[in-house]
Amino acid sequence: MTPLIRVEGLRVAYAPPPAAPALDGVEFTVDRGQRVAVLGPNGGGKTTLFRVLLGQLEPGAGTVEVARCAVVPQTERSRLEFPVSALDVAVMGAISRLPWWRRPGRTERVRALRALEAVGLGDHADVTFGELSGGQRQRVLIARALVQDAPVILLDEPFTGLDAVSMQQLEDLLAQLASEGRALLVATHDVEQARRWDRVLCLNRRQIADGGPEVLTRSVLEATYGTELVDIECAVHGHHELVLPPHHHDHEH
Ligand SMILES: Nc1ncnc2c1ncn2[C@@H]1O[C@H](COP(=O)(O)OP(=O)(O)O)[C@@H](O)[C@H]1O
Ligand SMILES: [Mg+2]
Repeated sequence: MTPLIRVEGLRVAYAPPPAAPALDGVEFTVDRGQRVAVLGPNGGGKTTLFRVLLGQLEPGAGTVEVARCAVVPQTERSRLEFPVSALDVAVMGAISRLPWWRRPGRTERVRALRALEAVGLGDHADVTFGELSGGQRQRVLIARALVQDAPVILLDEPFTGLDAVSMQQLEDLLAQLASEGRALLVATHDVEQARRWDRVLCLNRRQIADGGPEVLTRSVLEATYGTELVDIECAVHGHHELVLPPHHHDHEH
């Protein structure tokens, strides 16, 4: 089976040396049907990796072979006042695949509505995007990605700011998309969630680890999060636990 993503010896720099590269030594493959947690501190290079996979950034070194990718971008609250409906947003997924002289028409609207149905929002097609809940907005953006019909979907911190119910709905949806054979790369700050998925990729300006959830040892987590990690002693069980401070979950930009 050919992997959907194959990355070897990847280095990415926004500025020439002596500035440190944003990413170095990144090397991994991803197969169909895999959910991969991309873990790392703020500034660790998660979004940078996604931009390389999307072809928006040129690698400074290394090779990147990747099937077509769709992206669910990090949420930007500043764009919420635009009066577009959930259906409009989903239809936008069709635009990149249309020849330049064509506008999206009935075919694209039907595909977009199907995609909204697939994410459980068929009855929200006419609702303004900004009026949806955070979890619903994430699912509309996933519908937009589904309309692009790409075998790889990159999700950039999709769980940030969601309540427990919306998180569960989104997790169930990701499980369904993976079971249909798509590969999902999910930038997340939730280590426990990462342990439930197929693979983890730990980035802290360089690759710290890549493999099954069993690679998430204490030393890997320390190298991944560095000083952002807080060591607390669990009062009830009397053992040490490593946790991320709460600003990680509230972080938005
Ligand atoms: N457009 C850019 N120009 C210069 N530096 C950037 C740019 N985008 C990101 N960086 C830098 O690259 C590093 C990795 O950023 P990013 O990939 O956004 O990390 P993450 O998504 O894990 O928070 C950070 O130090 C960040 O400041
Ligand atoms: Mg980011």
